[in-house]
Amino acid sequence: MNRNNILYRKATICDVTFMSEILVDAAAASGVEILVCDLPDYPDTYQYVEAFPNGSDVGVIAETADGERVGAAWVRMLANDAHAVNQPLPELTMGVLPEYRRMGIGERLMEELYNAASVMNIPMISLGVHKDNLPAINLYKKQGWVEDGSFKEYIMMSREAK
Ligand SMILES: CC(C)(COP(=O)(O)OP(=O)(O)OC[C@H]1O[C@@H](n2cnc3c(N)ncnc32)[C@H](O)[C@@H]1OP(=O)(O)O)[C@@H](O)C(=O)NCCC(=O)NCCS
Repeated sequence: MNRNNILYRKATICDVTFMSEILVDAAAASGVEILVCDLPDYPDTYQYVEAFPNGSDVGVIAETADGERVGAAWVRMLANDAHAVNQPLPELTMGVLPEYRRMGIGERLMEELYNAASVMNIPMISLGVHKDNLPAINLYKKQGWVEDGSFKEYIMMSREAK
């Protein structure tokens, strides 16, 4: 498998279970251990996938030619955006399955997501990343995300969606 064999497509309601797996993986990278089946008990986390897609939600799935999902990135406005530094913006969740990392899939997922958000007339997007999550911080910095401030142990960042 190499990065050229990966396909990128828009996320749909059929992808929500996989996106939930990516969400709990991203939470684990922040030191928060949640099982997918327990997500509804954690509304602050569950809101990243609950009833996706809705309104201006937009996401991208990376999958193999066999249809195996290997990564996802999406943005949505959060109902409870306690950590917004400036104005609330659609917030990013992303991740790549461990065995597919360091192949450029994360970077490509983000580029596809910027395009998809742009098509949806979303000008700016935001994210919160744990201060110790160096793989993600490096990826975001490489792609021109700017630090807006911090919230608890999270660095808040934003970027134009283009
Ligand atoms: C962060 C994550 C999405 C990166 O995905 P990926 O497909 O491995 O990333 P890429 O291969 O596209 O790497 C792009 C850049 O990210 C950075 N990066 C990725 N993995 C890294 C690592 N293990 N250590 C340091 N930098 C890393 C590098 O800057 C890299 O560029 P380079 O290859 O030129 O050095 C992946 O590690 C992941 O899914 N982590 C768990 C979930 C998570 O943390 N999500 C984000 C929550 S805010």
